[in-house]
Amino acid sequence: MPMTAIVLAAGEGTRMKSRHPKVAHKLLDRPLVWWPVNAARKAGADRIVVVVGHGADEVRAIFANDSDVECVEQTKRLGTGHAMMSVRDALGDFEGPTVVLYGDTPLMRAETIANLVEHTKSGHYACTVLTMSPSDPTGYGRIKRDTNGEVLAIIEHKDCTPEEQATLTECNSGIYCFCGRRLSENIDKIDNNNAQGEYYLTDMVGIYREMGEPVSALLATDDSELLGVNSRIQLAQVTKIMQRRINEELMASGVTMLDPDQVWVGAEVSVGQDSELLPQTMLWGNTHIGRDCIIGPNTRLTDTSVADGASVEETVALQTIIEANVTVGPRAYLRPGAHLLEGSHVGTHVEIKNSTIGRGSKVPHLSYIGDTTMGEGVNIGAGSITCNYDGVFKHHTTIGDNVFVGSDTMMVAPVTLGDGALVGASSCITSDVPAGALAVERSEQVVLKGYAVARMERLKQIKAQGKREQA
Ligand code: UD1
Ligand code: CA
Repeated sequence: MPMTAIVLAAGEGTRMKSRHPKVAHKLLDRPLVWWPVNAARKAGADRIVVVVGHGADEVRAIFANDSDVECVEQTKRLGTGHAMMSVRDALGDFEGPTVVLYGDTPLMRAETIANLVEHTKSGHYACTVLTMSPSDPTGYGRIKRDTNGEVLAIIEHKDCTPEEQATLTECNSGIYCFCGRRLSENIDKIDNNNAQGEYYLTDMVGIYREMGEPVSALLATDDSELLGVNSRIQLAQVTKIMQRRINEELMASGVTMLDPDQVWVGAEVSVGQDSELLPQTMLWGNTHIGRDCIIGPNTRLTDTSVADGASVEETVALQTIIEANVTVGPRAYLRPGAHLLEGSHVGTHVEIKNSTIGRGSKVPHLSYIGDTTMGEGVNIGAGSITCNYDGVFKHHTTIGDNVFVGSDTMMVAPVTLGDGALVGASSCITSDVPAGALAVERSEQVVLKGYAVARMERLKQIKAQGKREQA
């Protein structure tokens, strides 16, 4: 039986005060709606459907590259029951266990979803409702049970009598597992005769009870998984919980953090054993850190891989490959296509873009290296730059093995420095340098003996005479 997960995400989220749909706001490095989709995926969902409505195109774009996710547009927002009817109308009957999740409830764990499905399958229930007992149940649908403790119905807060509002404290989390077949057969029985004039998915519970179909309620073991995001304040609270969850998992697996409150690690990042993450470090996207690395402080790595034993200090890196035992920073900027080979060093105030830095090569201070292929054992003197851009086109620089480039060298691309070449400091290199050659481009130095002393004497005399004219 294929398992389906349906993530309701058509809502606007007015309390976010945003031009973007609520579920597109980011929690760490992923949009809110990505988290329940990923939890469903990890729980074994074969098919994931996201119900989009408000800002549909922006939400669709989030899943543009995920072949296991389909989006269904709910053009009129007539309630959670109507959202499910829209899915059935667009994709056909539900099949197998069908889990309902919310796009604004990102802390739901895969294990909780898997348990809910297992419970529903083993009990042959038409529906299992995940429930909770919050300290303030205002606004939530309430679970009504019979004298045997069996679930009778879910009554929305606004449809409860004052007595029910006060006594029914067990609440509907809004997360369910349905038997797909029975849901398809009976969902049209939902009507909108209620306080809000909406089609309530919650009505399915009462409908099944009247039909004699078995329904069940499962009390959640961790209420924090059910926290929804309606405002940016709640977004920050949920972010804090997710940050702790991820960091505690990493620390349990052998990663050191000086202060885990100051480390932010994205959903799919990995960090190897005995690596250390220092304060103000952010690791985002498809970033993978090996063993025995030191990352941070003040470092942001996005879609970057760092191999064993490397250290990356006060650095921003995007789409960069950092190989084993490389040292970076403090204060380097590594841009897409930077590839630092084993044992190389990129130092302070250095920017590297779309370039390979060879094994053991060094770019220690104040340099820009762009569109360059560099061999092994190269040393680039302080303040040297590859001039890769002519205002229209980008050009390539090739630097062979064991080249020594003196400080303040401009390498005007396209240009090649052969193996073992030597470039004198402050040269502007505009043509190729053959292997083993010395290239120097600078005007000859003038030395006038005693000139500085004589000049100072003259200036002092002028000052003593009170004259203003220049000598
Ligand atoms: C719903 C439940 C309530 C439960 C609560 C838990 C119903 C009728 N009530 O109430 O029992 O305690 O969740 O949070 O289901 N959505 C759509 N399309 C719609 C309507 C809603 O996609 O037409 C989405 C929203 O974007 C949201 C979710 O479904 O993510 C819940 O909708 P909302 O209207 O906020 O339901 P609640 O009133 O909170
Ligand atoms: Ca010069």
